[in-house]
Amino acid sequence: MKVAVFGAGYVGLVTGACLADLGHEVVVRDIVEERIDALRGGEVPIHEEGLAQLLERNRERIRFTTEVNAAVEGADVIYVAVGTPPTYSGDADLSAVWTVVDELPEVDRRIVVAMKSTVPVGTGRTVRHRLDDRGLENVGYVSNPEFTAEGTAVHDFMHPDRVVIGAFDPADADVVERLHDGIDAPIIRCDVASAEMIKLAANAALVTRISFINEIANVCEATGADVTTVAQGIGLDHRIGPAFLRAGIGFGGSCFPKDSLALKQLAANSGYSFQLLNAVIEVNELQKRRVIGKLERRLGSLRGKKVALLGLAFKPGTDDMREAPSLVLAGRLLAEGAEVSAWDPVADGRHLDGVDVAGSALEALDGADAAVLVTEWPELRALDWAEAGARMRNRLLVDGRNMLDPVEMRGYGFDYEGIGRAAE
Ligand SMILES: NC(=O)c1ccc[n+]([C@@H]2O[C@H](COP(=O)([O-])OP(=O)(O)OC[C@H]3O[C@@H](n4cnc5c(N)ncnc54)[C@H](O)[C@@H]3O)[C@@H](O)[C@H]2O)c1
Repeated sequence: MKVAVFGAGYVGLVTGACLADLGHEVVVRDIVEERIDALRGGEVPIHEEGLAQLLERNRERIRFTTEVNAAVEGADVIYVAVGTPPTYSGDADLSAVWTVVDELPEVDRRIVVAMKSTVPVGTGRTVRHRLDDRGLENVGYVSNPEFTAEGTAVHDFMHPDRVVIGAFDPADADVVERLHDGIDAPIIRCDVASAEMIKLAANAALVTRISFINEIANVCEATGADVTTVAQGIGLDHRIGPAFLRAGIGFGGSCFPKDSLALKQLAANSGYSFQLLNAVIEVNELQKRRVIGKLERRLGSLRGKKVALLGLAFKPGTDDMREAPSLVLAGRLLAEGAEVSAWDPVADGRHLDGVDVAGSALEALDGADAAVLVTEWPELRALDWAEAGARMRNRLLVDGRNMLDPVEMRGYGFDYEGIGRAAE
């Protein structure tokens, strides 16, 4: 089939590359010329495991353009994978989605617009009206939300837990289902509003688990239990399961914070106060800030103290720093008068005002009064921690992801503190 993908970002590029790999002819359209030029030249503008190889392998079947008509010409399906960032009010900003819808040319055959961007429930209905108002009745609409996680997105796309297809017309759902031939996964076919809600509810369930285990961690800290053991103990219960039970310094990224806020606002706009989600969001905000308290308890005032942030990306395997806990930490530390150094193997922190971004983790640790492990990069597990300690002025280590072995770290002379782990 012929597929146009609007948006050459994390989702659009993975979608385009994977669909090409499944044998479809793909054109990816973006409005940023430099991005399209780079892609045409074989460069991949984002860090995503396996994506570069997939694009290279399918070079014959994937093209890049800035032109709407060149993308839509001959296409059977048009994927919308543009950004839907939060507005000031917390609602999703759908302006890029509307631009795509309004720019669609008239076509003399049936085509299907498939929404991959995460949008509020009700968006599909509004898009349908907008298409009808423009006389584009032969343009079908399907909600086909994306559940891939950055860092494992290519694998997740090819091996999804499920594919959700919400449609107004079953024939349009058939087209999108056929597009997934070759992918072995349950297909959930439903109405458009339910498909939209499945995406928001899935993210809400995941962030609820994260804030839940973070609160358990905080109670562990106050009572002497160890959250890593507790998580293992409850995760083995088949009714609970082990995923998303790792306590840490809070969730970030381009999806969880904005999508939980968007669902909260969607509920509020509909006259309902989603109290559980409100709490989940607030717990997360507080969690990011708890590290500051941990540092102050050991170091006193942070004014003039050097704190090294190890990891800037919101999670390992990606260069994405959107809503990363590192941003809140850096901001709070600078506000307290601390000197902040940082290192990340792929995320580019050069735009972070006031943060000294080092070329290596060891360099970031030179003369530091404390280190905070922010992102659980494997490179940090493999770091020469004896050397790391030797370089620091004071061996205080806050492991914000509970990645390191406390006994081993204490063996290197660190004053080690994790999240919800028993004190020494
Ligand atoms: N990042 C993820 O892992 C992920 C996972 C699931 C769902 N989503 C959702 O998918 C959507 C896209 O997310 P992303 O992370 O890929 O965003 P992104 O910011 O990385 O990419 C969006 C791209 O769309 C382009 N764009 C804007 N207007 C356009 C237009 N009119 N035509 C063509 N391109 C246009 C932008 O230039 C940008 O390159 C969002 O709604 C997000 O919530 C993201």
